[in-house]
Amino acid sequence: MMKKNISPLNWPEPIVRVQSLSETCIDSIPERYIKPLTDRPSINSSSSSSDANNIPIIDLRGLLYHGDPDHPEARASTLRQISEACKEWGFFQIVNHGVSPDLMDMARETWRKFFHLPMELKQQYANSPKTYEGYGSRLGVEKGAILDWSDYYFLHYLPLSLKDYNKWPALPPSCREVFDEYGRELVKLCGRLMKVLSLNLELEEDFLQNGFGGEDIGACLRVNFYPKCPKPELTLGLSSHSDPGGMTLLLPDDQVAGLQVRKGDNWITVKPVPHAFIVNIGDQIQVLSNAIYKSVEHRVIVNSNKERVSLAFFYNPRGDIPIEPAKELVKEDKPALYTAMTFDEYRRFIRMKGPCGKSHVESLKSPR
Ligand code: OGA
Ligand code: NI
Repeated sequence: MMKKNISPLNWPEPIVRVQSLSETCIDSIPERYIKPLTDRPSINSSSSSSDANNIPIIDLRGLLYHGDPDHPEARASTLRQISEACKEWGFFQIVNHGVSPDLMDMARETWRKFFHLPMELKQQYANSPKTYEGYGSRLGVEKGAILDWSDYYFLHYLPLSLKDYNKWPALPPSCREVFDEYGRELVKLCGRLMKVLSLNLELEEDFLQNGFGGEDIGACLRVNFYPKCPKPELTLGLSSHSDPGGMTLLLPDDQVAGLQVRKGDNWITVKPVPHAFIVNIGDQIQVLSNAIYKSVEHRVIVNSNKERVSLAFFYNPRGDIPIEPAKELVKEDKPALYTAMTFDEYRRFIRMKGPCGKSHVESLKSPR
């Protein structure tokens, strides 16, 4: 059923940049951005400052004490914290992850500058639903869909066959160089985390990486730009979704919160720790782990007085290999929950529908 979807060449309606709307809408927003009552955010609902109201914060320094007799417990304890976070939350923040804070700030601020360039310059990179690469303002191609209050820039970092500097902005002048270095560092960090996740699943440390295609993995970036919104209580910056890929490293704005993570029936507003990355499990690791780890729904709220910029780095399987539950994790009392699908096929499906909670991965459930 899904394989028949062919990506259309164009958007179903003319694209309106949310950034332009934000500059002209003073005290109302167009109807197309008004969410149905059940989807609207309850702003301030989780303003408590207790730790139970934030995703776990994990110090990765413990991973460095491999076989160090002075710190016998440090590594094991870090592994345990990550294991619990993957099972309980699907989300955690990492500190002491080895990526330079200056590089993180530079990456985010370089992209912020991009969004503040004149509109004519940005329009040269306008994207289409065919590949999504470039400057965009909607996800999904359903005619008449209610839209999110954000613009974005999407680009491929890996595989090299998809990396195309012509699709990356030429301005600000440092953009390509900064993102090249940022990508290199994040691929390394994701590789380390993939090992930890494999070990925590009691698999060989290279298991997940090999399941993703070894060296030939995919990696892409979505920079999200959430302009100020005069009616934040009526809309969302990004509708509820789970990330389709393997694992996401999110660099949030350093000034403005906005990401909310589902915990049961509640939405928890993440309080970012300075220079931490927010890590989350994507649908492909949910499938490979036979749902021991779950990709958790999340969404973004906006606000009336501050714009917000975030960088979501997606670490994905290569596109053409079937992803299915690890044989080692399929037992008589735990049958395989999902049928195999390549990430290319999966992504084609997602690109038609846009963000829809967890309906995509649910649709892979094996018939019983
Ligand atoms: C995403 C995402 C969250 C944010 O880009 O998939 O969930 O805080 N972003 O921008
Ligand atoms: Ni996401």
